Amino acid sequence: MKNKFYITTPVYYANAEPHIGHAYTTVAADVLIRIKKMQEQETFFLTGMDEHGAKIAQKAGLENKTPQELVDGVSESFKDLWKQLGIEYNVFTRTTNTQHKNAIQRALQRLYDKGVIYKGEYEGKYCVGCEQFKTENELVDGKCPDHNTEPEKMKEESYLMKMNEKQEELIQMIERNEFKIRPERYKKEILSFLNSQKLEDISISRKNVSWGVKLPFDEEHTAYVWFDAFLSYITGLNWDGDNFIDEDKSRFWPSDINLIGKDILRVHATIWPIMLMHLEMPVTKGLFVHGHLLSGGKKMSKTIGNVIGIDEMLEKFGSEATRYLLLSAGVFGEDVDITMERLTEKYNADLANGLGNLVSRVITLLNNFQFSIFNFQSVLNDKIFNDKLSDLIKELKFDQALKDIWKKVQSSNRFIEETKPWELAKQVEGQKFILSDDLVLKTKSDLGFEEVMQRLTAELYEIAELLKSFMPETSERIKKQLETGKKEILFERIKN
Ligand code: MSP
Repeated sequence: MKNKFYITTPVYYANAEPHIGHAYTTVAADVLIRIKKMQEQETFFLTGMDEHGAKIAQKAGLENKTPQELVDGVSESFKDLWKQLGIEYNVFTRTTNTQHKNAIQRALQRLYDKGVIYKGEYEGKYCVGCEQFKTENELVDGKCPDHNTEPEKMKEESYLMKMNEKQEELIQMIERNEFKIRPERYKKEILSFLNSQKLEDISISRKNVSWGVKLPFDEEHTAYVWFDAFLSYITGLNWDGDNFIDEDKSRFWPSDINLIGKDILRVHATIWPIMLMHLEMPVTKGLFVHGHLLSGGKKMSKTIGNVIGIDEMLEKFGSEATRYLLLSAGVFGEDVDITMERLTEKYNADLANGLGNLVSRVITLLNNFQFSIFNFQSVLNDKIFNDKLSDLIKELKFDQALKDIWKKVQSSNRFIEETKPWELAKQVEGQKFILSDDLVLKTKSDLGFEEVMQRLTAELYEIAELLKSFMPETSERIKKQLETGKKEILFERIKN
């Protein structure tokens, strides 16, 4: 039986247009899923939208729209962006779809019947930006550090979900890596949090937010948006709140990776697995946490004016280069600082020059000397991803994997400079180079024209293959040029 692999991105809030941070997570998930496909695993990739809650209702109000109108529009923008970026998801889920809403109600009812959810009162400070209650020590000068706003004081009747009774089990699952949190330092962070305090029961309903899924046992309340959103990771596999309706999809549960940014780690590492335990579902196998993209050393913000737009990147670099630039910008897992200048420099150095030059030189040589391509399969081994690269990818070290591939690009370029294949060929009498053993001239390195070209074409083919998941179209275009000899510029140089 084939290995299966199920990855999710967060379901993004449908209150505003997609930005570069959303693209970062989603491109990473897409690269990983394409690699798993190359490794012949059966894959499932879910992304989608988080469409309920106060934040969305407020935004709709400001725009004089109904919440549904707002989320319909924003969802389309996200879909468009994924199309432009070549994202191959299996499901684009939306929390406003009926099947999902029914499942949420069923799950709520089950938990209520079990006594896991009970009626009480909740008092706290609520940050609408985070859609979370905040404790005093999470605030800086009384404000939410992520949204720079003062959370609202709230005291209302609410339904609560028991947390503490599962705390010990959760700690153990994390320690044993049954619920694996990577990179390691995020696991440590969560364990130290869980070991230092008793988890309080959380409020899972809101009385004053009408834009949400109604609690089946009390229609005056709607479900807390995070409760609603988390379950989309399973309702996207056709789970109905109790059972899977679809064998074909159920086999993908539990998910292998919930890919998330560090901003939403705490909720994902506490509420989410505990919900699954209460629902008697296998807990997701793990979270992979990445850092934030910063611009000029600072959090991107409209007020500072340092936002790098995803549209801006797409317009300047195109989709393939944008995928490359996002994942090569820094270590996945840590905060990564980008500026438009540095992205442009990297584009020119790695893509227009490095890779672009290599392709152009090899194809020119093939054409000038009417060298036809040898049987690639004979030069390539079928395990394209060598062990080192596979290990890097398993730990989502995209930037390191790309660096390794670019070492190959450099070494091929150097090989051309050292062997000067055009000189090797020129030394042969007549215009046309004839490939026969006695005519093959030897170089310093003792290689003949034929061998040099054979090695170069094989190396370029291998590079194209390795790049397939990162830049699928570029990979195809390189292979096509090798096969047809038709030269085409892959990446035009860009002025800074
Ligand atoms: N709706 C919730 C998630 C629910 S999942 C059950 C949410 N949505 S969000 O639209 O705010 O998206 C947050 C995610 O976007 C982050 O976890 C991260 O994946 C991505 N990013 C948002 N800003 C980012 C950066 N500046 N840099 C990198 N990624 C960040 O939270």
